[in-house]
Amino acid sequence: MMTNALNTPEGLDTSRPSPSRIYDYMLGGHNYFEADEAAAKRIIGAVPEIRDTAWANRGYHQRTAAWIARQGVRQFIDIGSGLPTVGNTHEVVKKVHPAAHVVYVDNDPMVELHSRALLDSSGTVSVICADLRDPDSILGNSAVRDLIDPGQPTGILMTAVLMFVSDAADPVGCVSKYVRAMAPGSYLSLTHLTADAKPPATVEAFRAVFDNATERMHFRSRAQVARFFDGLEIMPPYEGGRPEVTYAGVWGAEDVALADSDGSRWLYAGVAKRG
Ligand SMILES: C[S@@+](CC[C@H](N)C(=O)[O-])C[C@H]1O[C@@H](n2cnc3c(N)ncnc32)[C@H](O)[C@@H]1O
Repeated sequence: MMTNALNTPEGLDTSRPSPSRIYDYMLGGHNYFEADEAAAKRIIGAVPEIRDTAWANRGYHQRTAAWIARQGVRQFIDIGSGLPTVGNTHEVVKKVHPAAHVVYVDNDPMVELHSRALLDSSGTVSVICADLRDPDSILGNSAVRDLIDPGQPTGILMTAVLMFVSDAADPVGCVSKYVRAMAPGSYLSLTHLTADAKPPATVEAFRAVFDNATERMHFRSRAQVARFFDGLEIMPPYEGGRPEVTYAGVWGAEDVALADSDGSRWLYAGVAKRG
């Protein structure tokens, strides 16, 4: 079932697929248009395990948000937050700290519109429509200033978003700006699509779907993903695991062997602490 016109921001170009709506389709949501569905089906044709990838990513997002909250972090900025779905960040972290603050950030206006429905009267959750490639505009936004105390540790969540940022826009520099703006004891959690160990023709068919989308797709290698964590203390992904970038499914998994699926191996992931 596709979204209805009432839930669409005025002036939105629905003729081009967008990452948020393609992802919503993959997760079984209802907020997508024909162009998104066609794009999603092309991806499924090229990468049959892609829905597993999407769920591995979403599960990772929830597990690490909860884990960071359990380290005592009570404020979160979720950048590239996506359309509301099962287990939204504020729902997950409020189970640990009921008064936790969460700011959702996404550059897709449809995300802002739909996320507004999640806001309650407590004033502890905000949503802004902004582009992560402009850290100053996000860090200076009044919602961030109101809800994120720079003197307290923050959970910075950037799952499945940096692959939509080209090298020319300096994604490593952008991530570093967010991390440096937050207090010591803050955590960064991210996932990133990779083409490592994947058949080149499959990767190209996947990537090409985004040629006509609102954002292009950029796969990165393990070494390139590790650069996002430069200068930070990377956390072991599971008990007994080495502190390093790993596949999304296995991070915090109860059964690491079971979670190490083909779908999950499209995504590198890591959580690191600012000392
Ligand atoms: C695949 S979804 C991931 C959603 C969520 N983070 C998760 O992991 O479940 C990627 C999201 O990043 C957003 N996005 C892409 N480029 C962005 C940018 N430059 N600034 C902010 N958000 C962006 C898209 O609109 C989309 O909602």
